[in-house]
Amino acid sequence: MLIGDQITLRPVRAEEVGPLYVSSLDLENRGLWYPLPTTPLGKLEADFADSGFWTAGDGLFAIADRSDRLLGIVGWEQLNGDVADVEVSYRLFDQADHGKGIVTEALGLLVGWLFDTGHMNRLRASIHVDNKASRRVAEKSGFTCEGTSRAGWYNRGRWHDIAVYTITRAEFEAHRLAAATPA
Ligand SMILES: CC(C)(COP(=O)(O)OP(=O)(O)OC[C@H]1O[C@@H](n2cnc3c(N)ncnc32)[C@H](O)[C@@H]1OP(=O)(O)O)[C@@H](O)C(=O)NCCC(=O)NCCS
Repeated sequence: MLIGDQITLRPVRAEEVGPLYVSSLDLENRGLWYPLPTTPLGKLEADFADSGFWTAGDGLFAIADRSDRLLGIVGWEQLNGDVADVEVSYRLFDQADHGKGIVTEALGLLVGWLFDTGHMNRLRASIHVDNKASRRVAEKSGFTCEGTSRAGWYNRGRWHDIAVYTITRAEFEAHRLAAATPA
């Protein structure tokens, strides 16, 4: 379990797989930015039974508040065996929880944990170019926009451009040092 100021990251529980699936169908909450869901409930349940959403190549943390209410998810996935990039992703379930710094804190915990425990040298976040809140989360967490992946996502009847954000291990260490240094 990773403990922050207002949230903790912990494994997803069996009884949360159903609500997680239902929330993934909430198009309004997904916003214009998240591609439509592709994983059926049966596959999610099978994956959870198999691994608890935790393998050597990917993982999913539940974001929970101080009273252990499930707020959202933050995850990571190894992209390619030769290029050791890891993709991170995140989503809150309820719009009432947006704008409170929850995902910035969750991403900070995830990034620190990945670099402290893993051998990867770069993390990546693929963000719809118009998703200003998510771009801001990435920037606050020390990520840099490397460029645009053109027409990379299909959603709501058309292809969308993706802003590709990355952070290297060296950049993360500098970001952590700056955050810990009094102004
Ligand atoms: C995008 C999302 C992850 C952000 O999470 P969050 O917990 O609300 O983010 P935070 O509160 O940590 O930070 C949001 C930042 O974006 C800013 N922001 C929010 N809406 C914005 C907008 N329309 N334009 C510019 N900045 C905006 C906030 O002001 C804040 O920055 P600040 O701290 O400098 O003021 C969340 O809204 C969400 O889950 N959305 C639906 C799914 C999604 O889009 N996931 C990401 C896919 S890449």
